Amino acid sequence: MNFSKILIAWYLGNKRDLPWRSTTNPYLIWLSEIMLQQTRVEQALPYYFAFVDAFPTVTDLANAPEDKILRLWQGLGYYSRARNMHATAKQVVEQHQGAFPTSYKELIKLKGIGPYTAAAIASFAFREAVAVVDGNVYRVLSRIYGIDVDIAKSEAKSIFAEKAQSLLSVKTPDLYNQALMEFGALQCVPRNPSCHTCPFSSSCFAYQNQRVTELPVKSKA
Ligand code: ADE
Repeated sequence: MNFSKILIAWYLGNKRDLPWRSTTNPYLIWLSEIMLQQTRVEQALPYYFAFVDAFPTVTDLANAPEDKILRLWQGLGYYSRARNMHATAKQVVEQHQGAFPTSYKELIKLKGIGPYTAAAIASFAFREAVAVVDGNVYRVLSRIYGIDVDIAKSEAKSIFAEKAQSLLSVKTPDLYNQALMEFGALQCVPRNPSCHTCPFSSSCFAYQNQRVTELPVKSKA
């Protein structure tokens, strides 16, 4: 099975038209990914537009008073995201003259940018061949490949990261990562996925073995 080819074909036929997908501006990609970390796309959209309007560049965000940022964030929840974002913006301005670093290795050194966000920015903005790994990716890969490692355990992350990386399309890592996220968000959803319309159904481990509701494995606490 050519996983990335099938995945990207599905994506091109099913993707949502989202504003951060038509830019390679690392600041806008970063902003969208921070908002989407604990928030659904539909809820994040108006906030994204408001932030882009109020703070068109990372320098504008860095120079803004914190209370203005928090006011615009009002309603999104997890306010530490907004405060961390402000700190990261200041760091980009002070240490990188307002230009985001252009590689995963440098991005991850920034305060408040973890492996997921660094991979998202590096691949979407700079087409670096590094796979994103988040809950969507755990779900999609655990089901299709029958990976039953407990995602609450610390070793899970590197297992899924290696799998996602091994499947990555080196020529179009940006498309591959967006497609993987979108596939997890729209098709391979947590509850009652419509497997009969899924392009992987004939080879999906979970579907073929009636294990869809059991994967990914997640222990409690
Ligand atoms: N959730 C977080 N980032 C996303 C993205 N780039 N596309 C779809 N859903 C997401």
